[in-house]
Amino acid sequence: MSKVDVLLGLQWGDEGKGKIVDVFAPRYDVVARFQGGPNAGHTLEFDGIKHVLHQIPSGIFREKTLNVIGNGVVLDPIVFKAEIDKLKKYNISFDRNLFISKKAQLIIPTHRLLDRAYETAKGDNKIGSTLKGIGPTYQDKIGRQGLRVGDIVSSNFKERFSKLAEIHFSILKQYNFTDFNWSDLEKEFFDSVNFLKQFQLIDSEYFINEQIKNGSSVLAEGAQGSLLDIDFGSYPFVTSSNTVTAGACTGLGVAPKHIGEVFGIFKAYSTRVGSGPFPTELLDDVGERMRKQGNEFGSTTGRPRRCGWLDLPSLKYSIMINGVTQLLMMKADVLNIFDTIKVCTHYKLENETTVDRVPYEIITEKITPVYTDLPGWKNNLSRDSSKLPSELESYILFIESQLEVPVTLVSMGPDREQTILRKSTK
Ligand code: GDP
Ligand code: IMO
Ligand code: MG
Repeated sequence: MSKVDVLLGLQWGDEGKGKIVDVFAPRYDVVARFQGGPNAGHTLEFDGIKHVLHQIPSGIFREKTLNVIGNGVVLDPIVFKAEIDKLKKYNISFDRNLFISKKAQLIIPTHRLLDRAYETAKGDNKIGSTLKGIGPTYQDKIGRQGLRVGDIVSSNFKERFSKLAEIHFSILKQYNFTDFNWSDLEKEFFDSVNFLKQFQLIDSEYFINEQIKNGSSVLAEGAQGSLLDIDFGSYPFVTSSNTVTAGACTGLGVAPKHIGEVFGIFKAYSTRVGSGPFPTELLDDVGERMRKQGNEFGSTTGRPRRCGWLDLPSLKYSIMINGVTQLLMMKADVLNIFDTIKVCTHYKLENETTVDRVPYEIITEKITPVYTDLPGWKNNLSRDSSKLPSELESYILFIESQLEVPVTLVSMGPDREQTILRKSTK
């Protein structure tokens, strides 16, 4: 029996999961996505080429690694086809290396329209959704009326599709959202569904458990981040799935006893895209410099990401919920430009108490971060620095002492090669 290791984001997404899954993939027989869908944008860089994956697992560029899109994922066939088309020139053997769960839910075009209608109706309270149809698709899953990948081969698929679309039309009408060309959308969908049929559609829970039984190693690739989790994130400013370790169990059909290492990935600072609380957000010139230096623009939507200092109370919370065993620190190079680096260790609440927990009131109350200042390293780390400068080492030691989990990897740039293993990983 082998274990399933999990790699997931501890912040608000975009921590660099794609890069590290790609770096780790040669050590694994299988890489599996367990939740989310095309709202994810996972960037990988090697040989001077940058790839952004949305639904395809980030182990896809490693020849010997099998990739699974698990049952917990919501799959848009249109986005899927576009992704495969883009990857065609790289000689990837999808027939051997890519598997899709029959139980993954399908995003249909009206899910995307509903996402937009709901967001528009929310006005100033909008979530800042990627508008990929994620929320409405998970709604239909929980409401027990969704369509699944395995349904596409059934003879009455078209009929069931039309029935679901009709339900959506009546909601869209209530929202005065009727300005779309349905026959075009429908055609694009069915072309993509036909395309999807040529791939290996499987009972992925059996597949993964057989791998575990045979001693093959599995890495579960998270999407989004723990602070966007539907239960534990800053609800309602969250995504619609469980992004935490438990989500890997339900999203792949893996029993908790099979979970091994939990790699918690975080940026050396914080970013968030979309609305919702962000206690350490910097709305000044410092935040602007961070955004520029870190190229903090969304991989899926291109939106500017909000930037701020590292937030330890939030990280502690994510570590607790996920059972993180190793921390991976990303984008250390982005902080090269700062003389002083601030780390938030506590929150001051409106009633003047100081806590190191994430309070329920984070949505409604003004939270003031309490910072510790640490000296910056002012070095150019992004190429070839195999030895960490002492200030960066001190920064990491401080984080480790606060979080009580070892930082085993430090990332210094977007390329595969710009990665330093700090302590022995498995
Ligand atoms: P993901 O969603 O967690 O996979 O992360 P994204 O791909 O959305 O965003 C991470 C961004 O940071 C991408 O543009 C990466 O190429 C880039 N990146 C990853 N690691 C590093 C790093 O260590 N330094 C720098 N400067 N960029 C990085
Ligand atoms: P990866 O996997 C960052 C955010 C959106 C919005 C909220 C809800 O690349 O880290 P949704 O489209 O799910 O209804 O949006 O969640 N969001 C992400 N932010 N990275 C992501 O994915 C995200 N996926 C969703 O910006 O605030
Ligand atoms: Mg991303």
